Amino acid sequence: MITGVTGQDGSYLSEFLLEKGYEVHGIIRRSSVDFRERIAHLEGKPHFHLHFADLGDSMSIVKVVDKVRPDEIYNLAAQSHVQVSFDSPEFTADVDATGVLRVLEAVRACHLEKTCRIYQASTSELYGKVEEVPQNENTPFHPYSPYAVAKLYGFWIVKEYREAYDMFCCSGILFNHESERRGETFVTRKITLAAARIAQGLQDCLYLGNLDSLRDWGYAKDYVECMWLILQNDQPEDFVIATGVQHSVREFTELAFHHVGIELKFEGKGIDEKGICVKGPEKLLGKTLVAVSKDFYRPTDVVNLWGDPTKAKAKLGWNPSKTSFEQLVKLMVDADMAKVASEGAAAHVRINLAEYLEKGIVK
Ligand code: NAP
Ligand code: GDD
Repeated sequence: MITGVTGQDGSYLSEFLLEKGYEVHGIIRRSSVDFRERIAHLEGKPHFHLHFADLGDSMSIVKVVDKVRPDEIYNLAAQSHVQVSFDSPEFTADVDATGVLRVLEAVRACHLEKTCRIYQASTSELYGKVEEVPQNENTPFHPYSPYAVAKLYGFWIVKEYREAYDMFCCSGILFNHESERRGETFVTRKITLAAARIAQGLQDCLYLGNLDSLRDWGYAKDYVECMWLILQNDQPEDFVIATGVQHSVREFTELAFHHVGIELKFEGKGIDEKGICVKGPEKLLGKTLVAVSKDFYRPTDVVNLWGDPTKAKAKLGWNPSKTSFEQLVKLMVDADMAKVASEGAAAHVRINLAEYLEKGIVK
């Protein structure tokens, strides 16, 4: 059973488990538009089933758990956008903190606590205002957003239920992982879409926030394998999942533009920094293609995430270097170049909306 099946990770995990021969039950919530882009290709497959429930509604979870009686639950559902958690802190706490408790209690209510293994989607955001670099399973937590504070509750309640009730429940402390299916307001996807749109003459400039922020970016498809491996381990344990390689938002931007045939030179500092086209199509030469907007600064920002995947390598046999940073950027840019070329003006409207959503102009 997968909560958050319509999300980036839920879609890849579904594919992964179906290939392994699993019967997959995904949780979806009611929406006014029935457009489940990431899992559309799976709907109708005989071993893929969907059920309505909401992490804010205990009874709905109990009913699905009771009906499905799962051997494994992957709790991926969350309000997952850090910036949005400053605008909707209470909703974020309800889904990302209490929602985890509701899943654990549903398993107990259905008397499955001795047979059902539970994976909790925890996060490197727990390290927040980091107290150690790189971060491993023993690094102290210092959450630095309403999202991270809610996820910290999720982490501790999973640990508590493991110890109090002897349940097989574990947290994967996953560092940022991206893909061509990444939501369009997360920084990597925002950059690859904009690079594709600028290269195809549909956008003039990309506005970003903190270009100095450092992340350990991996490929989502590689990371869902780890979620499964964590539940196949002999003991219920928590694991850091990361590549062990760190890059800045600026580096990601330079590389994404490079892949669409544009070389950028960054000039200026802070809010005045600009990425200027120094090589590329004639009409773009000398133009500012990347600028900084304080609209994308956060009240508190996590700026130095760098994971140490030693434990996952040793105990789970997981390979953190399967997809390199360069390959990740390229595969995302290639996908967005093709998408923008096929969607044209429609993609233009969507990326503007994504920017407005982040700026809080459209709620
Ligand atoms: P995502 O694309 O934003 O997907 C989130 C999923 O949660 C969606 O399916 C969403 O459904 C569902 N959801 C939200 N609120 C819900 C509710 N009240 N009830 C039921 N479902 C609800 O996120 P992701 O990138 O796949 O991440 C998956 C999980 O890993 C999240 O918990 C995230 O916090 C965590 N995580 C992600 C990363 C990363 O870098 N991607 C790193 C560490 C941890 P709708 O489609 O209906 O909105
Ligand atoms: N979204 C966004 N938009 N971020 C920007 C921008 C911008 O225009 N400009 C700079 N950034 C910086 C943010 O300030 C942050 O430091 C960094 O880029 C990454 O931001 P996001 O891509 O939004 O991801 P995140 O790291 O905050 O959160 C993601 O990763 C977490 C794991 O560390 C999400 O997937 C979370 O759900 C996940 O837990």
